[in-house]
Parts: sequence; structure tokens; C-alpha cells
Amino acid sequence: IPVDSFDLVIFGATGDLALRKIMPALYRRFLAGQMPHDARIIGAARSEMTDTQFRDTVRAAIREHAAGADPGQLDGFLDQIHYVAIDAQGVGGWDHLSALMRDDVVRAFYFSVAPSLFGDLARRLSEHGIADGDSRIVVEKPFGRDLESARALNATLARHFGEGQIYRIDHYLGKETVQNLMAVRFANILFEPLWNAQYIDHVQITVAETVGVGGRGGYYDHAGAMRDMVQNHMMQLLCLTAMEPPYHFDPDAVRDEKLKVIRALEPVSDADIVRGQYQGEGDAPGYLEDVDNPDSRTESYLALKVRIANWRWQGTPFYLRTGKKLRARTSEIVITFKPPPHSIFDEAGPRANQLVIKLQPDEGMDLFVMIKEPGPGGMRLVQVPLDMSFAEALGPEGADMPDAYERLIMDVIRGNQTLFMRGDEVEAAWAWVDPIISSWDDSKHRPEPYDAGSSGPDEALRLMHRDNRRWREIR
Ligand code: BG6
Repeated sequence: IPVDSFDLVIFGATGDLALRKIMPALYRRFLAGQMPHDARIIGAARSEMTDTQFRDTVRAAIREHAAGADPGQLDGFLDQIHYVAIDAQGVGGWDHLSALMRDDVVRAFYFSVAPSLFGDLARRLSEHGIADGDSRIVVEKPFGRDLESARALNATLARHFGEGQIYRIDHYLGKETVQNLMAVRFANILFEPLWNAQYIDHVQITVAETVGVGGRGGYYDHAGAMRDMVQNHMMQLLCLTAMEPPYHFDPDAVRDEKLKVIRALEPVSDADIVRGQYQGEGDAPGYLEDVDNPDSRTESYLALKVRIANWRWQGTPFYLRTGKKLRARTSEIVITFKPPPHSIFDEAGPRANQLVIKLQPDEGMDLFVMIKEPGPGGMRLVQVPLDMSFAEALGPEGADMPDAYERLIMDVIRGNQTLFMRGDEVEAAWAWVDPIISSWDDSKHRPEPYDAGSSGPDEALRLMHRDNRRWREIR
């Protein structure tokens, strides 16, 4: 279904995010027939360029980054693209942009630039009358690096735009399987009655990556896994897993419930945190070489035990872990249920159900159940998966899931904020993260070293073992 026609201005249009993610996503929507023929994408950046030169840049980017997308219709897509050279902090280009914008279509402005420019862009957009009360602003993480800076960013944007106009992207919310988490929980009667501390022993949330920090060392070394992954993506996964059912699938209803989870998070003590840093091996550089800072104490791995202080979760810990250069790229949520209260079988065996929600790369769900081991040897139990791969269950559509950005950008045009973070949510997440990070700043401790290609530092295993639990293997 095509969306309403739009003028989408991308500031930072020659940057990495725009070329690697935003343009390929728009092209795929174009191929899917969702982009109206008169919709326009207006690239804006500092360098002087003609429309043709910019189109060539986009063409090359799509060839490189839109894997599998048919390049045959690229010319038609590129015809809808324009370029304006603009000086975010000066006067150049704004009149040109103003003259280009049409009145009767959705106006959206994607700030794919450093947060330090958000204020300048917002101010000039309103001063020149380019943005009005119906326009939409899209911003990316990092949304601040602590509570204070996030508040300042929110205040800057609020000077010119209402909260209902601001779309803060967390691309994890655009992933099909992350949205599916809500479908699984709230469209089935099976899970919700058991979804609480009475029946769930603990929850594990893992986002493991095989990549290192590569060329992003400059940014990453000032962020670390806590700011880069936990404050945003992991926090969203935690919220969707733990929140109460919203009364409706509606932006504020969903975000109100997520906010309550974040506010209910208990402070995390030092003993419940493991930080790690990957080591080099042979010719492969370690973290310190990757960021070119031999003294860095930034973590490329983080595991923590989190408690949610509310009725539903009292006594059920959530264990989170994420890291770079781990054994496999796997993101999953594992719900480990409690064993039945009484076993009628004499033979020992596995006793607890487990639900594994696999977010990537092989999207699907495994529900582990106990059955009788076949054979005449008595009543022995084995645990087997009821496994569902979305690709198999849904056919070709399940295998070809849209990229997060496709969904999110179209939601901006539709004016649907459900999958975007509200300002208070971001601030609440920082309010929880800040004291944890500042306790590291105070300490001299270095993160624990771990081998590239491993499951992370051994200390993280101990975080579980000491509670008589174990991580699901990263594979
Ligand atoms: C980004 C982080 O937000 O998410 C990266 O900055 C990380 O460090 C990436 O690699 C992970 O996203 P995905 O979609 O590959 O799981």
C-alpha cells in the first residue's frame, strides 16, 4: 500500500548511515511499490554537488549495500532524488531548500548528522518556515551520552517541535522479529498467563556480534557496550519482554508501558556486572589496537544481572549480555520457566521448559518441552524443541523480511510513532545507566580480557553459575 506523498530531506546525505542504510531502505520500498511516484528524497549536505552527481553517489551506494535488490529500476528511483548543498550553521542553501519544498505533501527531515548540529538544523528549519507543525523530524542514536546531554537534546528539539513530531530511531524496534515479540506475547493466550515471576525462573537476553569495532574506534571507545547497545537496543528488548500489556497497539500506550519497566529497574551493583575487552590473536588486532588506545578501559562486552522491582517480576532476574568479536552473531531472548512443582517420575532428567525467541540471524522460536525418551527402558525424560523457523513457516515472505529502516522510515511518513522512542523513555534509560557508568569511571579496574571468537570472559559464566544457572550457548 503506497504511503502519502512526501518530501523527505536527509541532512548528512553523503554520510555513512544515509548511503549504507537509508537510501537502500528507500529503494527497497520503491521496488515494493510503496513509494508514491511523485515523492521526493532531497539529500542535503555541505559539499557542492549537482543532482546528477548526488544520484551517482546514491547509485553506487545502492549497488553496494542493497544486496539482492534488483538494480534494474534504479533510474526510476534516482529520478525522485534531488540534492541541496547546505550549511547547517550558516545561511547557505536554506532558501534553495525552502523553494524546493511542496506544500501539499508530508514533510520529513532526517537528521543523519552529529547531535551537536540538531539545534542548528531545528532552528533554521523553523526560521525559514521550511518545517511547520505537521513536519516530522527523525533523529538517530546516540541520543546523548548521559542523562544531562539527553535532556539538553530533548530541550533543543522541543524549542521548535512538539513531541508528536519527533521520531527517535532505535533500529532494533524496526526489526520484524522484535515487533514479533509483541505479537507472540499479546496475540496468544498461551504465554501471558505464565509470563511472570511465579512461572518464570529467569530471562536471558543476548545480542552477540562477530564484528569488532573496526573503523568505528573513535566513536566506540567513548561509548562502550553500555552506551552503544545496552542503553538503547538491549533496553528496548528488555522492555518489550517485561512490560505489561498495553491497552492498545498505540504509540503512547506502548511507550507508557515501556517507560514503567525502565523506571522499575533496580540499580545494579558492581557484583552483578562483568565488563570485557577482546584480545588480539596472531595477526588479528585486539580491541586496544582497533581503537588505537593502549590504555583504554572501555568495554566491548558487557553482562549484567538486572532486577525489575514490580509485582510481575519480583524474584525473576533478567541477565543481559552483549559483545563484539564473539563466537557467533546471535540475538535471542531465552525465557526459562520454573520446573513443575512436583515430579511424578523417579528418574532425574531435564525439568524446565524454555522458550527461545530467536531475533537474528535465523528468525524463529523454539519451545523446549519434555517428552518420554523412546524405548522400553522406563520413563526417562528428554527435552526436545518445538521449533519454528519463520522462513519455513511463512514461506518466501518469511525469508525476505524488510530491513528495520524500511519499516521505520515508512512509519515516519505515515505518522506512526509506536516504534520510536519517546523523550522521557530515553531520559529514563540514561537515568538508570548513568550511575553504573560513573562507578566505572571512578574505579581503576580494567575490563576482563576475552579471546576473539569466544563466548566472552569467564567471569560472565560465573555471574550465572553462582545463581545455579547457565547461559544458553552462543552458536
Ligand atoms: C548499532 C551499534 O546501533 O547496532 C553497533 O552502534 C552494532 O555497534 C549495531 O553493531 C548492531 O545492529 P544489528 O542490526 O547488526 O544487530
